[in-house]
Amino acid sequence: MAKLRAVFFCSACGHESLRWLGRCPACDAWNTFAEAPAPVKPKGHGPARALGPAAAPVRLGDVSSGRVARISSGLAEFDVLLGGGIVPGSLVLLGGPPGAGKSTLLLQIAARLAERTSPVVYVCGEESAAQTKLRAERLGASGDLLLFAETDLRAILDALENLRPKILVVDSIQTLALPAVESSAGSVVQVRECATALMEFAKRTDCATFMVGHVTKDGSIAGPRLLEHIVDTVLYFEGDNGAEYRIVRAHKNRFGSADEICVFLMDERGLREVKNPSQLFLGRGGTATRPSGSCVVASIVGSRPVLVEIQALVGETSYGTPQRLAANVDRARMAMILAVLERRAGMHLGTHDVYASVAGGLRVNEPAADLGIALAIASAFRGLALPPGTVAFGELGLSGEVRAVAQRARRASEARKLGFTTVVAPPGSTRDRDDASLTVTDVAGAIAATLG
Ligand SMILES: Nc1ncnc2c1ncn2[C@@H]1O[C@H](COP(=O)(O)OP(=O)(O)OP(=O)(O)O)[C@@H](O)[C@H]1O
Ligand SMILES: [Mg+2]
Repeated sequence: MAKLRAVFFCSACGHESLRWLGRCPACDAWNTFAEAPAPVKPKGHGPARALGPAAAPVRLGDVSSGRVARISSGLAEFDVLLGGGIVPGSLVLLGGPPGAGKSTLLLQIAARLAERTSPVVYVCGEESAAQTKLRAERLGASGDLLLFAETDLRAILDALENLRPKILVVDSIQTLALPAVESSAGSVVQVRECATALMEFAKRTDCATFMVGHVTKDGSIAGPRLLEHIVDTVLYFEGDNGAEYRIVRAHKNRFGSADEICVFLMDERGLREVKNPSQLFLGRGGTATRPSGSCVVASIVGSRPVLVEIQALVGETSYGTPQRLAANVDRARMAMILAVLERRAGMHLGTHDVYASVAGGLRVNEPAADLGIALAIASAFRGLALPPGTVAFGELGLSGEVRAVAQRARRASEARKLGFTTVVAPPGSTRDRDDASLTVTDVAGAIAATLG
């Protein structure tokens, strides 16, 4: 049967469609759809064939699992982000806005790896070798790294064929082009074909490949979202560029848990890992009394507990429709929490503007943060601060009940480790019931117990 092929792409995010659309359903951008020429088909067989020698189905039991040792990147937290180190032959995409620190991070890692493994190749298509050298000097990187200032991917792959690097960094995928593809560098087709060629090389030679992908909205460069399906792991810089620290989150990982984060501090010597992100996100406040509208939440990010501060501001609407703004908090969840507070806790928020955000720029999207968001809003509405040393977690149901959440013991223990004394949480199983010092079953009860 003939396979249907997508011929239109959103040039902002790479969303595919069989017909032209005025507005992209994935990223809401207008007029970004462009028709892509039919992809170049390799003669005889597709890239899947090149990934392994099997031309016929093989019994699962007969396939060697090829358990390979992971390579440590030299940054312990970055290894955790990848699920325990770099997997040989994996293809990792690092996306992020301009100036986020993509080149800095990968150059730092490549240089560290070059001290222990060789060869390690850094393809700098975006900057000259001299420019990259300048940055490397600032980062205190060693000289064993091989720099390759080239943008013709065919030439790069031909050279690498003899070199057989263990680690390859491509900065960035948007600057590369295959001469056989009639499209300019950075176009949707070129980006896709280049990524597929890199994937084939990585799998065949067991070379762990990192590639930088830009996220732009100007419409001319294909966003890395298009690449997400092709690669094994997708890492994104998130949060504010202006902040002194940068958060890298794993959005997809075939070799580890997704949603894992790694926090870095940016200074003139490059990126430094932050071992205890909770302390950073809580700021200097720690367990001291916080102002009204603030609630600390014990959240699970990836595989570890992280304490974050939810801040809310509530004020009477001065004109027109009440404003509802959520930064780093899911808007739909906040709307639901507001409705629950209105109906189940008797708070008349309909005439008030409500703003909620997560201090520090970490995105919190797990339902376990519901109770903390509700308490922060309630605290702002009443103008009363929560008792010092309070931490909360729990999912809110539409009838106002506080539901149990996973990993409560780990959340409570992280809170206690950082000196929090009152853990406001729903009842758990008998085994870990004593974790919470304040057990709550519904939102009205939680507000009464903490704000009086
Ligand atoms: N001397 C310095 N001291 C401190 N920070 C610096 C210094 N030089 C650069 N930076 C930081 O490094 C960031 C740029 O990092 P980098 O070039 O790795 O970003 P990038 O994500 O690769 O950007 P692009 O998309 O433009 O390639 C700047 O935003 C700045 O914060
Ligand atoms: Mg860069």
